[in-house]
Amino acid sequence: MASYSEKQANDKGEKHHELVCVTGAGGFIGSWVVKALLLHGYRVRGTARDPADHKNAHLLTLEGAQERLALCRADLLDRDNLCSVFSGCHGVFHVASPISETDPELMVVAVEGTRNVINAAADAGVRRVVFTSSYGAVHMDPNRSPDTVVDETCWSDYDFCKETGNMYCCSKIMAEITAKEEAANRGLDLAVVVPSMTIGPALQQKLNLGIAFINRYLTGAKKTCPNAVAGYTDVRDVARAHVVVYERPDARGRYLCMGAVLHRAHFLQLLRDLFPQYPITDKYVHNQFPPAYVRACIACSLPPKVICNDERLMVYVHVWQA
Ligand SMILES: NC(=O)c1ccc[n+]([C@@H]2O[C@H](COP(=O)([O-])OP(=O)(O)OC[C@H]3O[C@@H](n4cnc5c(N)ncnc54)[C@H](OP(=O)(O)O)[C@@H]3O)[C@@H](O)[C@H]2O)c1
Repeated sequence: MASYSEKQANDKGEKHHELVCVTGAGGFIGSWVVKALLLHGYRVRGTARDPADHKNAHLLTLEGAQERLALCRADLLDRDNLCSVFSGCHGVFHVASPISETDPELMVVAVEGTRNVINAAADAGVRRVVFTSSYGAVHMDPNRSPDTVVDETCWSDYDFCKETGNMYCCSKIMAEITAKEEAANRGLDLAVVVPSMTIGPALQQKLNLGIAFINRYLTGAKKTCPNAVAGYTDVRDVARAHVVVYERPDARGRYLCMGAVLHRAHFLQLLRDLFPQYPITDKYVHNQFPPAYVRACIACSLPPKVICNDERLMVYVHVWQA
């Protein structure tokens, strides 16, 4: 059966072969977004800091890549460069962002890079931008009651994130606010996908932070775990959410992308059941993370709804090990 967006593409033939750009194309989520767009018939320009680096080679093997994917060098801090990369594009998917807490360029690349992307997109006549935010910009609020349903109206508390050393969350809060403000100033259509912890099979060879997080439990490097719940989502659903919000002209604002909410004890028990040979910790500590109960929703007002469950989660775990 054709998906919602496939039907849209078929109904409106012009969506096929429309040119779009994906920043951070070689990363974990970026690669799946590129793959989803190619499968939906788009021509894709993917950016990377070094397109020739072998870590991006997997992109050229994706279905449709030979005919419809071009990789370009782009520097998020160079607006003119971005403007020429976006030239001729109908849409931009701004996925790239540093993830490391220790990257000295974290804030500047996340925030000024986003400002440049939005303005370069407006300068280049791009119609619509999809920005990849993060659950880190949503759930970190110590003053929120544990009974509160966390949804798209919620924001993390910047000062709390800063005080507790969660600079990545700070960078995503500020980058998302910047995207929203700049897009409003420039009259640019913006939709924001807000994924939770994203898991699932990797197309790229390089270990990204989310997969490294699981690895640290499996190898025993992580000695304790937080007494808290977290949201998890499948990278393939995150990629689909990007395409859906791009194709829905009425999609505006944020779309929380969440497949399952699990207490860390539940998550680690799944890992233990699957891989009893690994030294997975059972020590819990109360830490600074605020409890968060999160509505399981993805692109909630948009068809199709994509929900994953524990069973699918277990499949991902198998994939990581392979
Ligand atoms: N993974 C998750 O659990 C998760 C959850 C929520 C939101 N997100 C968001 O999803 C997006 C992609 O994350 P990911 O997990 O796919 O991470 P990833 O695999 O590490 O990819 C990050 C991408 O950002 C680019 N990048 C990093 N630092 C850069 C810099 N200084 N200048 C230009 N580009 C830079 C990298 O491009 P190069 O090829 O040039 O290195 C890379 O392609 C990010 O915006 C992240 O905040 C991720």
